[in-house]
Amino acid sequence: MLRALTRQVSTTFAECELTFLDRQPIDVEKAIAQHRAYEACLTELGVRITSLPADPEFPDGVFVEDPAIVLDELAIITRPGAESRRGETESIAQALSHFRELLYVDEPATLEGGDVVRIGKTLYVGLSRRTNREGIMQLTALLKPFDYLVVPINVNGCLHLKSGVCWAGGDVILANREWIDVAHFHDFKIIDVPADEPSAADVLPINDQLLVPANFIRTRELLEAKGINLRPVDVSELQKAEAGVTCMSLVFNV
Ligand code: GLY
Repeated sequence: MLRALTRQVSTTFAECELTFLDRQPIDVEKAIAQHRAYEACLTELGVRITSLPADPEFPDGVFVEDPAIVLDELAIITRPGAESRRGETESIAQALSHFRELLYVDEPATLEGGDVVRIGKTLYVGLSRRTNREGIMQLTALLKPFDYLVVPINVNGCLHLKSGVCWAGGDVILANREWIDVAHFHDFKIIDVPADEPSAADVLPINDQLLVPANFIRTRELLEAKGINLRPVDVSELQKAEAGVTCMSLVFNV
């Protein structure tokens, strides 16, 4: 069975970190409603949700993907590159401790789960504004006994690796080559996001369905043409905080 850890949208959500986007007014009530619909979509797909309460101390707390990397054997608690987000790890670790052994990365490492694309036993890890070389080195060392291959990839022009490349199920990845060098994905069929939808690569496979942001219409058409079953979700208000569809859940087998 799949379980997803989520966290409710904070009342302070509009004070979120922004790295590549300009700040726009955010309708927090609308973000809360969209987040509920996102959770409902996961539930419809058979995923059991563990939902943590919002914490006003952490405007970005809804983005639970970043404080942890959950694998079948263990979970790594990260050290977010954004200082304002470091305190998010405590409650995530507490919640995950019911399901996984926990391992930690330490200072001076920085590492965020949004920089980790897992495909089978390979972890592609973005070297980004949020994840540094030390973070990738510590992750590699922690995973050594578990037979994972860690592949560093430069991230240029977007927040996280997953902002620019994601696994779309099977042998398909969706990518923005302006931001990510896809040379490491030579074994996959690569679908390029349209130039006018640069952030559309962030997609979330759940069983045989693919969650996609509803507003990336041309990307949806490309994916549908390949026979991929899509579940569009409206995350437009959350996108103003540099959200994708992956960052609002930690999905794992239990
Ligand atoms: N606003 C999402 C982040 O910067 O982590």
